[in-house]
Formats: sequence, C-alpha cells, structure tokens
Amino acid sequence: MPLALAHGLESARLQVRLVTEADLPALLEVNGDDAVTQYLPYASWRGIEDARAWFARMNALQAAGGTLQFAIIDKRTGRAIGSCLLFRHEESSARAELGYVLGREHWGQGYMREALRRLIDCAFGELSLRRLEAEVDPRNLRSARVLTQLGFAQEGLLRERWMTRGVPCSVNTYGLLQREWPRSGAADRDPVAAFLG
Ligand SMILES: CC(C)(COP(=O)(O)OP(=O)(O)OC[C@H]1O[C@@H](n2cnc3c(N)ncnc32)[C@H](O)[C@@H]1OP(=O)(O)O)[C@@H](O)C(=O)NCCC(=O)NCCS
Repeated sequence: MPLALAHGLESARLQVRLVTEADLPALLEVNGDDAVTQYLPYASWRGIEDARAWFARMNALQAAGGTLQFAIIDKRTGRAIGSCLLFRHEESSARAELGYVLGREHWGQGYMREALRRLIDCAFGELSLRRLEAEVDPRNLRSARVLTQLGFAQEGLLRERWMTRGVPCSVNTYGLLQREWPRSGAADRDPVAAFLG
C-alpha cells in the first residue's frame, strides 16, 4: 500500500496537514533563510519559483506513493511555520525516513518535537510503519537533540553522504522502532503531564 493519509493531525498548538500551494509564501520565508538550510543538502530558496518547483516535486513524489509532505501550521495564526515529511517509504520493510524544517523565529519553543510526536504516532499507528529513519549532519546539534528526545537511537555514520553547499558531508543516521514508541496517547502529552499520569 502506498503512503496515504486522508486527514490532518492536531496537537495543542499545531496542525500538521498535507502541504498546499497556499503555504508556499510562508514556507519560502522558512527555507529562504541560510541559517535554516545551513546543515541541509539543498540551497536556500531564492524566490517563489524555487518554492513552486519544490511543490511540484513533492506532488510528484506524493502521487508515486512513497512520500507524505506536511506543513506545520501555528493554530493561532493559521500560517505555516515549518514542514515535515515521511519519504523513501519502503513498503516491503514498512519503513520510511523523516525530515523536518522550522522557521528560525520558532526554534527553541518545542514546536518541532510537538509536531513530530503527532506524525510519529500516526506513522506507527494508522500508517503501520515498523521503523523510522533520519539522517543528520553531526554539526546540527538542535536536530540531533530533537531526535534523541523523541527516542531515536544513533545507529551509524554514513561517510560523505550529502553535498551541502558544494562540500561532501558525512551524516549520522538515526532509527526508531515501532515497539519503542510510547503507546496510546502518551506521546501526545508533555513530559510533566505524562509523568504525573
Ligand atoms: C532542528 C529544528 C527543527 C529544531 O526545532 P525546535 O522546535 O527548536 O526543536 P524542539 O521542538 O525540540 O525544541 C527545542 C527546545 O525548545 C525548548 N522548549 C520550549 N518550550 C517547549 C515545550 N513546550 N516543549 C518542549 N520543548 C520546549 C526546549 O528547551 C527544547 O530544548 P531542550 O531540548 O534543550 O530542552 C530547528 O532548529 C530547525 O528547523 N533547524 C533547521 C533545519 C534542520 O536542521 N532540520 C533538520 C534536518 S536533519
């Protein structure tokens, strides 16, 4: 079965739903920032044409069934503050890769962790995935912290895996198994609430 999701996901502050063309101006602000793309294997978007080209690529990947590209929406404003995706879905092994970016002004407030908790819950629940993977530039400490806080284990180093700004970069690979993921809504709650039960 290809990856498919007919509805959006919701958390306390965020909505995580499939990206639309209307999200592109906000996502251009996110991906047009060199601080956001510093450790990513693509150049910062320079204009709305870059955003549209990305959207067309994502639509094609989504139509092929191996990708779900989401916008992360701030519920207070209705505006996209970042994005996350499941991609490289391999059906026979029930695994997929996770990717994510957040606008710089929203860093350090727990937004990405909140969004990914919902997405991972859905991936291991409704989408019946068995394993999630992520690749991170070792210098990208914020991203590594997000993953380890979510329970991902660092599994290895892939040498010169990415070209980042024209330079070969090695990446750390992370993995999370379905059986390691908190069950039945515990993942939705913040750590204090979960601790208090
Ligand atoms: C990596 C990235 C997504 C992290 O996003 P983020 O929202 O800042 O990450 P988190 O959701 O984990 O929040 C981090 C901090 O917010 C703070 N925070 C504030 N309020 C919080 C809350 N309600 N809940 C949880 N954390 C909260 C925490 O202190 C946490 O830091 P700590 O783990 O040191 O305690 C972001 O920096 C980014 O987009 N970077 C550029 C793109 C990128 O590198 N993508 C990943 C490619 S591999």
